[in-house]
Amino acid sequence: MPRRFGPFGGAYVPETLVPALVQLEATWRSARRDPEFRRRHRRLQSTLAGRPTPLYFAENLTRRAGGAEIWLKREDLVHGGAHKFNNALGQGLLAVRMGKPRLIAETGAGQHGVATAMIGAALGLETEVYMGTLDMARQRPNVERMRLLGAKVVPVRDGSRTLKDAINAALRDWIENVRTTHYLLGSAVGPHPFPSIVADFQSVIGREIRQQSRRAFGRLPDLAVACVGGGSNAIGTFHPLRATSVDLLGVEAGGPKGHRTGAASLARGRPGVLHGSFSYVLQDRDGQVAETASISAGLDYPGVGPEHAQLKESGRARYLAVHDEEALRAFHWLARDEGILPALEPAHAIFAAVREARRRPRRHKIVVTLSGRGDKDLEVVLGAAR
Ligand SMILES: Cc1ncc(COP(=O)(O)O)c(C=O)c1O
Repeated sequence: MPRRFGPFGGAYVPETLVPALVQLEATWRSARRDPEFRRRHRRLQSTLAGRPTPLYFAENLTRRAGGAEIWLKREDLVHGGAHKFNNALGQGLLAVRMGKPRLIAETGAGQHGVATAMIGAALGLETEVYMGTLDMARQRPNVERMRLLGAKVVPVRDGSRTLKDAINAALRDWIENVRTTHYLLGSAVGPHPFPSIVADFQSVIGREIRQQSRRAFGRLPDLAVACVGGGSNAIGTFHPLRATSVDLLGVEAGGPKGHRTGAASLARGRPGVLHGSFSYVLQDRDGQVAETASISAGLDYPGVGPEHAQLKESGRARYLAVHDEEALRAFHWLARDEGILPALEPAHAIFAAVREARRRPRRHKIVVTLSGRGDKDLEVVLGAAR
């Protein structure tokens, strides 16, 4: 697994963390070759996580778009309601293998926190989750879920009180408690080996898309679409499709109409270092991290995983931004057309997919990764309608 993706990636961290990163990489490499570990992982993927998730033909949404067929990869049906559990399960097993009794995590939308709390409970590990206080307010149901699952939720009041600040707080905790604690990072960001490990555990999404689309319509799709916060569900979708002819489209948060950057790090940022990794970052003229805005807590992050930066620069994937108002429209389309309440994060991808479908012929197939379900966002959606 590469330390870098072209010039992107690396590990820009304090020296105290280097041994833990080396140990994590070595553990992961040995676990991947260990048949016993793989068997246990596979078993929990099916019996606890609920994999494989279906590939669903969104017939009514396709009719609304009036062009290419739209298919949904149903990660909203994974245990906990989002793709985040794929990664939490894998890293939880690595923590056990390293003999570390404590998990810490950061969370934005709360889905990664819920997934970590679930796996912490299932594997008997103490769990603490850092969360910005703005995110705690807008994703309240998930705060309650984490507490019921036995995790401690630590409020972060610094900075913009969102995901970026929660990661800072979790990194500070890890530096202090690195001997006993595994930092279960929730997206394909951070220092090596996290982007590669997270992509590895999320690649189950793209591998299943490959198999299921062949079964459903006899070939690979023409286009794969996924939303991009830190980029874990998108890299899980794209990575196994990189060497094919499938078009890849990542959808970032454009924020409210009129906001200069939203949270669109690839579309509107430039290369820089954030949270131990060199990638695209939203920054001001002095290189300070810029303020972001998005209706969707899970996309509200000023950085992105380094593999996406390489996919963008090489032209292998395209990235664009969708506004809050557009994501809300797509939320209602999916609710009314298909009977599915999506999370606001993948609602961004749905909007972009419908727009793409309109421009493409009927014979084209578009697969959208529906990364999570919308229960957590009901208050936000209802508030926007008032
Ligand atoms: C349902 C859902 N989708 C997408 C994301 C964005 O994260 P990533 O880009 O790592 O998939 C989140 C983050 O919390 C999420 O909860």
